[in-house]
Amino acid sequence: MTHQPEGQFRENPSTGAGREFLITTAIDYANGAPHIGHVYEKILTDALARYHRLAGYDVTFVTGTDEHGEKIAKAAAKAGQTPQSFVDDLARRAFQGLWDRLEISYDDFIRTTERRHQRYVEEVLQRVYDAGDIYFAQYEGLYSVGAERYVTEKELVEGPDGVRRYPGDKDPPELRREANYFFRMEKYQDWLRAHIQANPDFIQPAGYRNEVLEMLKEPIGDLSISRPKSRVPWGIELPWDPDHVTYVWFDALLNYVSAPVSRGKPEAIIGAAWHVVGKDILKPHAVFWPTMLRAAGLPLYRRLVVHSHILAEDGRKMGKSLGNAIDPEALVAAYPVDAIRYTLLREASLSADSPYGEGILVSRLNSDLANDLGNLLSRTVSMVQKYRGGVLPQAVEVGDREREIEAAALALPGEVLRLVNDLKVNMAIEAAMNFVRDLNRYIAESAPWNLAKSDQTARRLDTVLYTAVEGLRVASVALEAVIPVKARELRAQIGLGGQFYALTGAWGLTPAGTRLVGGPVLFPKPEPKPELPRAGEEPASAPVPAPKPKREKPAMTQTAEPTAQTAAPAPAENLISIDDFARVDLRIAEVVAAEAVEKADKLLKLTVKLGEETRTVVSGIRKWFAPEDLVGRKVVLVVNLKPAKLRGIESQGMILAAEDADGNLDLVGTRLDLPSGTKVR
Ligand code: MSP
Repeated sequence: MTHQPEGQFRENPSTGAGREFLITTAIDYANGAPHIGHVYEKILTDALARYHRLAGYDVTFVTGTDEHGEKIAKAAAKAGQTPQSFVDDLARRAFQGLWDRLEISYDDFIRTTERRHQRYVEEVLQRVYDAGDIYFAQYEGLYSVGAERYVTEKELVEGPDGVRRYPGDKDPPELRREANYFFRMEKYQDWLRAHIQANPDFIQPAGYRNEVLEMLKEPIGDLSISRPKSRVPWGIELPWDPDHVTYVWFDALLNYVSAPVSRGKPEAIIGAAWHVVGKDILKPHAVFWPTMLRAAGLPLYRRLVVHSHILAEDGRKMGKSLGNAIDPEALVAAYPVDAIRYTLLREASLSADSPYGEGILVSRLNSDLANDLGNLLSRTVSMVQKYRGGVLPQAVEVGDREREIEAAALALPGEVLRLVNDLKVNMAIEAAMNFVRDLNRYIAESAPWNLAKSDQTARRLDTVLYTAVEGLRVASVALEAVIPVKARELRAQIGLGGQFYALTGAWGLTPAGTRLVGGPVLFPKPEPKPELPRAGEEPASAPVPAPKPKREKPAMTQTAEPTAQTAAPAPAENLISIDDFARVDLRIAEVVAAEAVEKADKLLKLTVKLGEETRTVVSGIRKWFAPEDLVGRKVVLVVNLKPAKLRGIESQGMILAAEDADGNLDLVGTRLDLPSGTKVR
């Protein structure tokens, strides 16, 4: 039985069968090691590529490195290397090596310093020049080396130091006056606006499309595409003027065509492309690139998929200087690749920045992958082995509940592909995991261990076992784009190793009689381990202590570990007098500022107001609260506690909190809006 998937996948009558699909990532600047943002983008694009392959498309997946330009030349000089040897090492070892370890199924890894790419750039430059869309002019403007382009005054933002910079840049833009070649971009502005308006899918999610339409309300100007070679030699020479080179945007964007063309695909394949890029490079992809394609006489790409950024677990921007960056290599060394892939894709949404870190990874790994999916596999395999000698029986007595599971299995691929087409990969994963959870419920309800007790219920037992195994097969296909290694491992354990299954509604594809071979635990729960070194840091020498056993208590949070207290009534000898209690000065305090304490996973530094007085309190509640959640909140503070130094910060008081046996924590506060400083008794 087959089920017709929807969305992009439905437009084609036979799902994607045989249809060309080009998918690309941004090509990363080869000026430093890859970071978790690069990793997220590659994993997201890889999942989209794999979903399309599973739906039958003929997929070409291109990624690579952006290797020309001032930024790279500067980084190479700083490292004391020639630009070429500097980028050679980074591209192959740091980037391509990591993508291989992360199971990124790219078909081509293109480097802008490769001859095949340069040849194509020269050809397109000449084409656009011959068409009269490139001219030479003096220009004076603000140049951002970070963004590698001229920026407008309007794009700058003022920092706390009062200096105006392009977002993300360390230095303010430089005023430059130079003779450059220009691409007549503005000429295409009205046409581009009309195209975006007529094609709501062209830029997605919609928030980014609106942002681009806003940009297009102002004149976009022409685009500087070259630099004098005398100043920046590290680029591609213009075919008609070797004293000038092009790099970055006119160079890099063309990788999206140079790569497939060098593999024998027609240039027009760009019309079947999805480009996956981060929000910081929206303008080059939504404005420069379509106008360049138009000028070169090429079709427009099909869709620009714009993603937001990954933040540190504390909700702040990640950065080496902030000490909160995760080193992807350390992550890959410590956790199964599929756990990294799953947790990133499950946690991140395209339209809003998403925090990510080891704590998030471990908790999702334990709950979803180990408990829900891993347990379903191991309990199913062990029951088939125990009750049926490892041979899958036939489903002979199908009831309402089995029919319900079969219907869900038939609908799941369509649902997953529809959500993927809407770029809701996190929800597509959730749909598959809901199916897994329902199978767990089904096993619990059916209690095969009871059915195994009597011959009368043997046929029911067969049916339950078959339904669980076939359900596992269905789940493995729905999750394969996200956890490709474990999905195949799962199928090998149920005796279906090496087989390809399309992502299309089907039930009953696992033949009765299949021998379940079993195997190791799919997702072992991680041991508590030494804290991962932050990017650019030496590994920590002391291991992080194992989590403390669960407590039932009201907890007080001045230190990283809330103080444990028993919830049972105090024995008589522990009773205190009212005078004893009165010695504790408790006040209502208002949190006016909150920030994470650097290099301390658990701590937040809070500034609280007690009437006119302001105090600093360090509290071990970072796991439960983002700093911004706390600002404006009223809490109860132990005011006359001896100050304590935590991570070099003097904490002047302690906030009261309560934590239940499941680790849920809440702050003791007040619903009445009493002024800060009010005494609590
Ligand atoms: N070289 C250009 C792209 C040229 S594409 C023709 C470039 N490189 S980059 O290395 O700075 O960024 C590569 C990609 O990583 C971009 O899509 C960027 O948005 C993405 N990310 C950078 N930081 C990120 C996060 N913190 N989170 C998610 N993605 C992030 O720009």
